[in-house]
Amino acid sequence: MYLLECCFLRFYLQRCRHAISRVKLGYVLYFFGMIALLEFFGAFVHLFEVTYDENFVYPYEGNIHEFVNALRRNEKPEVEPINEYKYAFVLKQPQKCKEDADHTLRLVYIIKSAIENFDRRTAIRNSWGIEKRFFDVPARTIFIVGMHPDDKEIEAKLKLEATIYKDIIQADFIDSYYNNTIKTMMSFKWLVKYCSNSKFYMFVDDDMYVSVKNVATFIRNPANYPFYLMESRKVYSAHKREIKQSDLMDYKAVSNFSNENATFNLKINKMPFKSFAIYESINNNSKKDNVYKKQDGINENLRIENRQLFKLNTSVLNRTKRQLFDFELPDDIRLFAGFVFMRSAPHRHKFSKWYVSLKEYPYHLWPPYVTAGAYILSRQALLDLYYTSFYTKHFRFDDIFLGLVAKKADILPFHCEEFHFYKKAYTKYSYKYVITSHGYGDPNELLQVWNEQKALGNA
Ligand SMILES: *[C@@H]1O[C@H](CO)[C@@H](O)[C@H](O)[C@H]1NC(C)=O
Ligand SMILES: *[C@@H]1O[C@H](CO)[C@@H](O)[C@H](O)[C@H]1NC(C)=O
Ligand SMILES: *[C@@H]1O[C@H](CO)[C@@H](O)[C@H](O)[C@H]1NC(C)=O
Ligand SMILES: *[C@@H]1O[C@H](CO)[C@@H](O)[C@H](O)[C@H]1NC(C)=O
Ligand SMILES: *[C@@H]1O[C@H](CO)[C@@H](O)[C@H](O)[C@H]1NC(C)=O
Ligand SMILES: *[C@@H]1O[C@H](CO)[C@@H](O)[C@H](O)[C@H]1NC(C)=O
Repeated sequence: MYLLECCFLRFYLQRCRHAISRVKLGYVLYFFGMIALLEFFGAFVHLFEVTYDENFVYPYEGNIHEFVNALRRNEKPEVEPINEYKYAFVLKQPQKCKEDADHTLRLVYIIKSAIENFDRRTAIRNSWGIEKRFFDVPARTIFIVGMHPDDKEIEAKLKLEATIYKDIIQADFIDSYYNNTIKTMMSFKWLVKYCSNSKFYMFVDDDMYVSVKNVATFIRNPANYPFYLMESRKVYSAHKREIKQSDLMDYKAVSNFSNENATFNLKINKMPFKSFAIYESINNNSKKDNVYKKQDGINENLRIENRQLFKLNTSVLNRTKRQLFDFELPDDIRLFAGFVFMRSAPHRHKFSKWYVSLKEYPYHLWPPYVTAGAYILSRQALLDLYYTSFYTKHFRFDDIFLGLVAKKADILPFHCEEFHFYKKAYTKYSYKYVITSHGYGDPNELLQVWNEQKALGNA
């Protein structure tokens, strides 16, 4: 009996223990599963992120302005640079920008190309890369590539292409996506060394549509582009039947050009990212202003600098269109313009192509940065960014790297929506103000679109 009872009890207890441990195991598994999942999506990484606004510093830590100025004056800085891209130029075209000795250039296009993209380079040479497009805009078009040391055939083909067109720079690093920062900084190096006689520089990928005409207009008056160009609706009513409803967005916004407030406000409300200079001077509503101030934590000095640089104050609004058109930026302006992400966060989930560890970058936000596909620099910005890069730790994404450099150089990127970092849907009339659009890796499509826009007077 005892035995039986004992057995029964033991059996019961065992089952009980079994059940309990199974439940526990379930919880434990569930618990660890959740942790693994959260870990996978970067939840814990987020917990350990450092707040960007209060804490941002990025090596070299310390005041670098003196060193940068010393380098610009060709003097020895007190502290040695911490980051230099010391690759050699295999093809260097030293005469490219110096052909007309007394001529300063207005615009240099430097195209970041992959070595094997022969067709894309040909299409660019035959479309937006034509150097003599506008007689009053002396320009140069230059391609930069890396190396494919194991592929003799492709290297030989490139050498031949370079001999014919004399517009290819090659540096001796491996040409690959994760070496984009090297490619970008080698193009800076080349421009500073061999092509510093231009007022503006435009950096473009080889799969972009570019309207050279709109670029030339933009650099005259970035703060007002494209508003001051827009005509009243009447002008377009002539084309009414050809214009689709979706194309009308722009024209609606400008139907009251004379009423600047309404026009600008309408446009500004659509902007995902604040074009601060425009916003601040036109819509001086303290409450809203404060919200924005808090949001992007841009330091006040930068705001003031930029406001002055772009001379966008109320008196600009009183100018006639003609006056806006004749505007010319001063030579010492530090312009770094393109499609700007003011406050975006690093990818922390592990499967992302853009995953970034805390060790690599600890802050919860990136500094303001311009998407890499297309951006414009003035000469002063080029020089300051180049020498500041010597005191900026390498980062493998080139647009983020330039954002970090710009932050350290106190240059606030200037946002313009007409630099489309995605492919802007194409219709005959939707590209009037487009400066650049991504997604033109097909050379035939680029030629077709460019020819059509050129015929319409938009390219
Ligand atoms: C980048 O270029 C360097 C120098 O040629 C090379 O050692 C390295 O492997 C390249 N990196 C990638 C990711 O291709
Ligand atoms: C434009 O101005 C006219 C009068 O000047 C007004 O009737 C119309 O509503 C305005 N349109 C917009 C879109 O503000
Ligand atoms: C335009 O804005 C200014 C300043 O905010 C304001 O004084 C003026 O009344 C506005 N004009 C119109 C027509 O709304
Ligand atoms: C905006 O308004 C504030 C006070 O309301 C003033 O101090 C500031 O100078 C104004 N800014 C501009 C750009 O007019
Ligand atoms: C506005 O711009 C004009 C030149 O465009 C300049 O003379 C004037 O001082 C500026 N005003 C302010 C308040 O910044
Ligand atoms: C702009 O024009 C308005 C009205 O015509 C005038 O009251 C204002 O003083 C002008 N502003 C500037 C800065 O010239």
